[in-house]
Amino acid sequence: MAPKVLVSDKLSETAVQIFRDRGIEVDFMPELGKDKEKLAEVIGEYDGLAIRSATKVTAKLLEAATKLKVVGRAGIGTDNVDKEAASKKGVIVMNTPFGNMITTAEHAIAMMFAVARQIPEASASTHAGKWEKSKFMGVELTGKTLGVIGAGNIGGIVCDRARGLKMKVIAYDPFLSEEKAQKMGVEKVELDELLKRADFITLHVPLTDSTRNILSAENLAKTKKGVRIINCARGGLVDEEALAELLKSGHVAGAAFDVFSVEPATENPLFGLPNVVCTPHLGAATTEAQENVALQVAEQMSNYLLTGA
Ligand code: MLT
Repeated sequence: MAPKVLVSDKLSETAVQIFRDRGIEVDFMPELGKDKEKLAEVIGEYDGLAIRSATKVTAKLLEAATKLKVVGRAGIGTDNVDKEAASKKGVIVMNTPFGNMITTAEHAIAMMFAVARQIPEASASTHAGKWEKSKFMGVELTGKTLGVIGAGNIGGIVCDRARGLKMKVIAYDPFLSEEKAQKMGVEKVELDELLKRADFITLHVPLTDSTRNILSAENLAKTKKGVRIINCARGGLVDEEALAELLKSGHVAGAAFDVFSVEPATENPLFGLPNVVCTPHLGAATTEAQENVALQVAEQMSNYLLTGA
């Protein structure tokens, strides 16, 4: 019998086509990502579950997933999957670490420009017919020091693009060797030094027990006055309350956040503050990235379900 896959989040049609072409039966029900009762009712029929970030694969859902062999996350972060519970049940969890890395790095760079030049506020003011030319004084990126926390796939691309913008790039990443840092043209530093020296700080680490609250109130207090902070990685990496206080006091000059400690974020300490640019977790939201991750997850899951590889 052909394996059966459920797609429970908004994945590109490419994924559905690939599953079909590979002889896998597939149900495309993106509305189930937000309906956990209905999802739990039907999950028992499926060998594979293809998701993005809306579907929460909890221990409870996994209890009902009696046939499930693989969860495929079209994207990078698997923090919406209870990996411990999955591994206890022998369910493989796979992601697509490369499909959206350029897109996410580009979003971080776009956010850095947006906050340096207050583009969203200037745009809203111009739309409102105000022509507030003297209100929006920005800063140049050229010659500024960018502190990159996490210089892996996405952080590495950000380093490369920032060097192209003639920024001085310093990176904190315990997994980055001196040799690799040299090849990348970045200076490897400890976290405290990055906090002290950076004019802009951008985060590119996953949310784990060791990175949670990496920009805590204590660490934020060590930053240089006038710093601008960009988070296109994960909510929970930065103490949002403490950051809001530092923005109000003027110690932090701006922040650009794509991710929040609670998502969907309908309220947040950063909302409504001047020179805070916010987007609704759009880091991977380009046509190209969504095609890539859909294609990759469908290929990987099909290989696993059909050959065990
Ligand atoms: C990811 O982990 O791939 C990104 O945060 C994008 C997303 O969750 O949609």
